[in-house]
Amino acid sequence: MTTLLRQLKAAFRIESVAVNNNGVQVTWKDGHHSFYHNLWLRDACHCPECFQQDTLSLNSSEGEGHDPLKMPLNPITEAVKIDREGNLDIVWGGQEPGHHSVFDPSWLRVHCQTDPALKQRRKPQLWDSSVSIPHFDYYEVMKDDWALLLWLDKMLELGVVIIDNVPKNRESFQALIERIGPIQERYHPTHIFTLDTANKLAGNIHHAYQYMQRLHNHTDHVSYNVPPRLQFLGCIQYDNPDYDKQAYSTLVDGFKIAQVLRTQQPKFFELLTTEYVPTGRRRLGVEEKVSKHEIGTKKYQWETYHRQHVINLDETGEVYQIRHHETDRVPLEVSPDKIQDLYAAYQAFTALAEAPEYNAEFLIAPGQVLVNDNWRLLHGRTAIHNPQLRRVLLGAYMKPETFRSRRRLLLGKKSGMSDIWLMGCSDRALEILADRTTI
Ligand SMILES: [Fe+2]
Repeated sequence: MTTLLRQLKAAFRIESVAVNNNGVQVTWKDGHHSFYHNLWLRDACHCPECFQQDTLSLNSSEGEGHDPLKMPLNPITEAVKIDREGNLDIVWGGQEPGHHSVFDPSWLRVHCQTDPALKQRRKPQLWDSSVSIPHFDYYEVMKDDWALLLWLDKMLELGVVIIDNVPKNRESFQALIERIGPIQERYHPTHIFTLDTANKLAGNIHHAYQYMQRLHNHTDHVSYNVPPRLQFLGCIQYDNPDYDKQAYSTLVDGFKIAQVLRTQQPKFFELLTTEYVPTGRRRLGVEEKVSKHEIGTKKYQWETYHRQHVINLDETGEVYQIRHHETDRVPLEVSPDKIQDLYAAYQAFTALAEAPEYNAEFLIAPGQVLVNDNWRLLHGRTAIHNPQLRRVLLGAYMKPETFRSRRRLLLGKKSGMSDIWLMGCSDRALEILADRTTI
């Protein structure tokens, strides 16, 4: 799809250019001014000599157009103009006479270091027990890219969606996940796992399979360096002879309770962001048959440990990840003078994670798939009192990069720009570019 210049919003059209102070001053049609240093422009040249158009990577080998050791530190422009397509067009002089760079104006705008729009962060919408979880239709997200993008946006906004009308089989569950990208491998040959109340032996493997107890709210795989980002739980069967709230799912917005803690008990918040609450998993000697083709049984083993904070902050001081799983916790690593304060902080966070005002409680009904952001939400389950209750869930995970990559690709597609300009843009830049036209 070719985007016509006049279809672009004013922010993405160049009004005028001027050369000054070793760089180029761009005035945009929305009135904003940007300054690009000559070295920045020369280094970012996308011409075929500097940038491989097929692999979308720099031509940085010796003697190539983008050899970093030959890059002039004070590149000099010979001619600077706006071409007929509205691009910034530069012919270089100095040590590289005739070298020609053309910059897409939309790309240039989202690389302006003084544009406040680029600094704006997508704020997650924090929620409590009154949350209304968004629903999407399986067939809609399977065929429509923009429904898929909306779903992925909701994952950032609320951290949870429910997909309805999913055929109750493993193939459809897998197809739904693979609409975003590959399922994350587990330390186990089955990457889609089954939670089946009829499997009485599974409780020996993991506490999550001990159905008669309430499963307290937690995040999964806290003892991995990088926990999975998305968790998928699809219901195949739910037959409850009592028609009550047994085996209901519970969800808590970890960012919300972190904010409550930050406001009400800032000292506790600080301790949980700076002190370590280590976690580990050890699983040895559990014999399982994981496929009907397997002869005999094998012992699937693993052993993990991670020195982690419960609340993790990014470089701007915003919470980006919660890690909390009481049953995976191992002895604290904290000095004797801080242990009581740290424990009190941990108790306060755990109490918030179980508090009814922050807990959403609902049934994942047959034909529904719950998708939750495991870096943000804590999940759990109510206890089963009646052994006759039968529930079968399929579960699987997705790596953070897989989720992020699909969203980036969809935003890029929506922008209508070519791959050479989309590659290497920040997520925020892609969000802005996706909305660059007036149509
Ligand atoms: Fe879990």
